Amino acid sequence: MRSLIAMLVAAAALGGCRGEPSKLPPVHLNPNMDTQDKYKAYGASHLFQDGRTMREPPANTVQFGLSKESDEIYRGQDEFGNFISKFPVTLDAKLMKRGQERYDIFCAPCHDKSGGGKGMVAQRPGLVPPPSFVDSTDVNGRRIINMPVGEIFNTITNGKNTMPAYRTQIPTDDRWAIIAYLRALQRGQNARLSDVPADQQGSLK
Ligand code: HEC
Repeated sequence: MRSLIAMLVAAAALGGCRGEPSKLPPVHLNPNMDTQDKYKAYGASHLFQDGRTMREPPANTVQFGLSKESDEIYRGQDEFGNFISKFPVTLDAKLMKRGQERYDIFCAPCHDKSGGGKGMVAQRPGLVPPPSFVDSTDVNGRRIINMPVGEIFNTITNGKNTMPAYRTQIPTDDRWAIIAYLRALQRGQNARLSDVPADQQGSLK
């Protein structure tokens, strides 16, 4: 009798291993904290009235470090709402390099690598050609050469006429890096002898 029971149990046990699909979770004798109760993103919650697991931040709160309280850095304006003419960030070679890289990615398709406004996108028929940033003989070129950096920041952030806004694609720091490089393009293409260090002017005079 006992051997019969043993045989039946063995048959049942083996029978269960024959690849029969089952919807039940596997038996987990020693859970060892392998799984824990938790809410997953977009999951439902019975605790909150709106039934959502993901919570809205409480009204008027700001994430630590993301206060964006500086008008100069985040809006390119002074406290009176005027566009600033001085960079609100420190200019160095690293920022310039970053600006060049980002300019070539985000701006050159329309404005071209030298800022002349003849990028590949702008050459397609039917598009309003962007103005040259750099041509001091052109009325728009002159205007943008003299444009406060804060206004250029505003153009990148919010777009202008047919130029799209880049507020979501380009983070604030990168916008300032791009403007630093844009200034270098303008200065480089309108260089005067006095821009060259005095001890290196000799052969250019
Ligand atoms: C999709 C094409 C396109 C891209 C990309 C683009 N621009 Fe423009 N941009 C334009 C056009 C078109 C104008 C002219 C808008 C108008 O009609 O006033 C313009 C105008 C401008 C002006 C002059 C605004 C004025 O007040 O006259 C600045 C400065 C400028 N762009 C900077 C940038 C910078 C910096 C980038 C890169 C972050 C960039 N643009 C990317 C198309 C583009």
